[in-house]
This record gives sequence, C-alpha cells and structure tokens, in this order.
Amino acid sequence: MTGFGNHFASEAVPGALPVGQNSPQKVPFGLYAEQLSGTAFTAPRAENRRSWLYRLRPTASHPAFLPWKGAPLLRAAPFDELPPSPNRMRWDPLPLPDEPVDFVDGLTTYGGNGDVATASGIAVHGFAATRSMAKRAFQNADGELLIVPQHGRLAILTEFGRIEIDPLQIALIPRGVRFRVELPDGWARGYICENYGAPFRLPDLGPIGANGLANPRDFEAPVAAFEDQDEPHEIVCKFQGRLWTTKLDHSPFDVVAWHGNLAPCRYDLRRFNAVNTVSFDHPDPSIFTVLTSPSEVVGTGNCDFVIFPPRWMVAEGTFRPPWFHRNVMSEYMGLIEGAYDAKEGGFVPGGASLHNQMAGHGPDRKSYENAVAADLKPMKIDGSMAFMFESRWVIRPTRWASTTPLMQLDYDDCWAGFTKAQLP
Ligand SMILES: [Fe+2]
Repeated sequence: MTGFGNHFASEAVPGALPVGQNSPQKVPFGLYAEQLSGTAFTAPRAENRRSWLYRLRPTASHPAFLPWKGAPLLRAAPFDELPPSPNRMRWDPLPLPDEPVDFVDGLTTYGGNGDVATASGIAVHGFAATRSMAKRAFQNADGELLIVPQHGRLAILTEFGRIEIDPLQIALIPRGVRFRVELPDGWARGYICENYGAPFRLPDLGPIGANGLANPRDFEAPVAAFEDQDEPHEIVCKFQGRLWTTKLDHSPFDVVAWHGNLAPCRYDLRRFNAVNTVSFDHPDPSIFTVLTSPSEVVGTGNCDFVIFPPRWMVAEGTFRPPWFHRNVMSEYMGLIEGAYDAKEGGFVPGGASLHNQMAGHGPDRKSYENAVAADLKPMKIDGSMAFMFESRWVIRPTRWASTTPLMQLDYDDCWAGFTKAQLP
C-alpha cells in the first residue's frame, strides 16, 4: 500500500475489518478495537493522524512496567552529560559488537537536543546489532524513529505488518508503535533520528510544483500481518528518556486488521527525484529534503531529513562542491555508501560528522583545490548517498560521543593550510 499519510485499510483475515464504523458493539471474531492517536484528537484534519487496530487482546492488558537496565549507551534529552563545545566533530564507523547484541541493546546515542517532556528536539543514535530481537518488542513513547540502515538488511515486524529494508531504504516508525528488528544478514549497522517533535511529513514544494523530491506514492505501508503466539514476550518501553520493561504471555504483534493514516512506512532513497541547478551556483541543500518535522517557527525545522543522492552536476562557472558556510541550524551527517563531494577522505560509510550552530565548515583543502582547478563539464556523482539530520537546535554530544576512540581528533586539520588570498 503506498502513499504518505494516506488512509489505508488492511486485514490479514478476510472479514476482520469492521465496515462502516470504527468500534462496533461486536467486532468481527471478537477482536478488540483500539485507536492509536499520533496527533491530538483535535489536530486540524490535514495534520490529524490516527489508526484503528483490531487485535486478539487489548494493549491495555499487561502488568506494571519496571525499570530496565539494557541499552547502556542510549541517552535522551536533556543532553547535559557534558557542556557542548563549538568544535566540529567526526567519527569513524561503529564497530560490530563482539558479543550478540540486538537492535535495542545496540543503540548508541551521538547526541541530541530539545526535551522529551515538552516534545521538541531530536536524538541522534547509531546502532550496531549482531542478533535478531527474539520474543522482545520495542515501543518508544518519546518520539517516532527514522531508521537509516547503512550495512545489512533489517526485517522489522510492526503491529501493522512487516517492513523489510536494505541500505538505501529507510523506515519510519510512528511514536508508540511496537516493533521487533530481525537481521537477515546476521548483523546490521545504521543511523536513527528519534524525533520528539511534530511527526515527519513531506516538505511543501512551492514553485517546484506538484511533483518532485520524495513523491508521496513511493512511501510504502505494510499490509496487516500478525502472530498468534501464546508464549512469553517482553516489551521494552522508552518513556521520558528511560527504559522500562513488562512481560506479556503472548505476542504483542496480534493486530489482525487495521485502518487509518498513522502507520509505519518505508521509502527507497533511490526514488528521490533530485532537483538542482541547470545554470550556475550551488543551491542550498534544502532542495534535497526528503522529510521535515516542522517547529513552531515557520520554515525552521525541528528536524529536516536531507539526502545527497546520485545526480548530475552541470553548473557553469561555479564552485560545485558545498561551499564554506556557517549555519544557524545544526547538521549531523552520515554516509551510507560512496564518497561525499566535500571531503576527500576521513568521512567514510558508517561514519558521521557534526557541525553545530555557527561552526565554520565546508570542503576540505584537497576538495577545494580540485574544485577550483576543475575543467567544468557535466559530470555525475554516482554510487554515493550521504544524508543529514538538520535541526534548529544545537545537537549536544553525549559523553560517549565526546570521548569515544572513534572520534577523529585531527578533524580540524582537513581545513588547515589554506593559502591566503592575494590582493592586487
Ligand atoms: Fe553544512
């Protein structure tokens, strides 16, 4: 089923989905009707997101949650472990753990901003997992999860059905939706934007018109699929930054039918219709926005998810790589594959960089020298996919991110040695 924010209906058993009303006195087969609200009941119709789930047992039927001690490197807002520095940061890729670690236990937080209590800001996590989640589901009450695998496939069973993604595809799991991550390749690594703020949506297109960038039809929602398993399962719940656990005597993935416009989805980044200059100059990277979570300041994202996909470069008389700049927004970047056109080395697939508010950055010296000397002809950037989580607030690094041996302590050196401009 395709379409961003469309109203879907799906049933894994014919006849399970009530027709004509949401909560009939008697739901087919004695299923329990349950609404999942992703926005306030009273949100404007264009922004209102909710779905109705028809399940074997109500979600409400569970014992009390107890504190849980897993995921030792997972952190949440407020990110106040260390004072944030104005320094630019870059990291080597997360190594695979030596012991079996599942998706939840392998969550490693680079940093974030905002406040889970007031539902603003983001957290940026990496993950490196070597074991499928078994009889365990994760539920995040603090925000939606934008999952960007970099190596290894993910098979994600959600309450709404199954989503399978490769690197170059992303998954978006709405706030509160339970899911389990399995690893068809035995291990996987990637990035996550945990969005505490307004749900991600497609950006407006303005003069671009009705088509382009990420097209709504390319967002795929799962069809209903469920487990009828009366065996012990664990629910790990993230609530106000901390983890809790409870036990069920059955699988939480027992939704037989659902309908609504709040659902997990996947998107293939290769379907992004890149729009760029056909004359001169390097447009702002906002032309590559896939999804945006708006803040209350117009045009100023709580988070923008931006990609740098394969594309032709044709600008004439132009410094083609990203220019030197300082940004009021803060930029966390990752690389899924290939090379990024502003860096000759050091920024490798699985690695990451952080350029916070007003940090001077741009091409390294080698990239600069190559770009100003280049004989400009149409050329294609191919085999590369970088991305950015860009936020209006400073992304405050965690203690782990600030002290890990993965941090490249010589990052500043890539901008050393620029020769002074020569005035006449
Ligand atoms: Fe930048």
